[in-house]
Amino acid sequence: MRVLGIESSCDETGVALYDTAAGLRANAVHTQVDLHAEYGGVVPELASRDHIRRLVPLIRKVLRDAGCGLADLDAVAYTAGPGLAGALLVGASVAEALALARGVPALPIHHLEGHLLSPMLSADPPRFPFVALLVSGGHTQLMRVGGVGDYALLGESLDDAAGEAFDKTAKLLGLGYPGGPQLARLAESGAPGRFKLPRPMLNSGDLSFSFSGLKTAVLLQATDKALSKTDRCDLAADFQAAVVDVLVAKATAAMTACQLDQLVVAGGVGANRHLRARLDAAGGLRGFRVFYPELELCTDNGAMIALAGALRLQAGEQVRGDGAFAVKPRWPLSSLS
Ligand code: KG4
Ligand code: ZN
Repeated sequence: MRVLGIESSCDETGVALYDTAAGLRANAVHTQVDLHAEYGGVVPELASRDHIRRLVPLIRKVLRDAGCGLADLDAVAYTAGPGLAGALLVGASVAEALALARGVPALPIHHLEGHLLSPMLSADPPRFPFVALLVSGGHTQLMRVGGVGDYALLGESLDDAAGEAFDKTAKLLGLGYPGGPQLARLAESGAPGRFKLPRPMLNSGDLSFSFSGLKTAVLLQATDKALSKTDRCDLAADFQAAVVDVLVAKATAAMTACQLDQLVVAGGVGANRHLRARLDAAGGLRGFRVFYPELELCTDNGAMIALAGALRLQAGEQVRGDGAFAVKPRWPLSSLS
């Protein structure tokens, strides 16, 4: 079964072709980073317009790379939410139109479901059940994943997501957008420990997170002071260590609470090297194994959407097929079945 996957929820246009027999056949992403950089963040209207420009050429490229034509597709999966409404509508309307024209199912997919299933595209994938730590620009969540569509929320951020905290802190330190990878790079040249930043909710006794206070703590250090290059590097290293300390402690607590031995890490912040090293070390100590998507599949892409669509079809998902569709800018993952 060949499933075309389309992702357009934010600032990446992603298209991929996943074959249930042969695996990932082609994957292409166009990032809008340069388009939004001068505004310091994503401008929704510009994002939608760029998805319109990029999507059809990307679909053509993916089909060419995979050596397929439209007639070879068995289904078209697309991100239906959560995300920017206008951006989602671009992917949804192209996907629904393609599916209608070809007479194949169109599958509306939850963006975070795509992220948390993405490690299954690796050569050595996890098996259900597992715990997933979802750390993206919009979400920080721990979920117990029993199978496709079986997602129980264990805990989440009460305010900023981890990626959002990275991005906002990067801005405070004078870095460009998107800030997460740039802040991580700055932190590599710094030494943590000098600024004594808080570890919010580390000892709250539950699996909730809070990151907005951490950003404020950085602001207090950065305001009205001429920070040297070393100060900025050390502050970045301190911030990264604080976020990672909390993520590792809560993920470890979730593994113990669920009595499972596989942890899946997904979402853009999952690309962070320091987080990966610390989670691997915690897993070694506590007897759980950590699974990550391939680095290029950590951030938004069409491959994870194609995979989620294929797994849902294989699980017997019922498809409406009436050509009517809607997108859901807000959509709790635990409401899926
Ligand atoms: O999953 P994703 O691509 O998009 C969303 O669905 O939100 O995640 C993007 C987030 C951004 O906040 C970005 O700054 C962060 O992931 N990110 C990182 C790193 N790479 C991306 N944060 C920390 N360290 C990184 N290496
Ligand atoms: Zn994402």
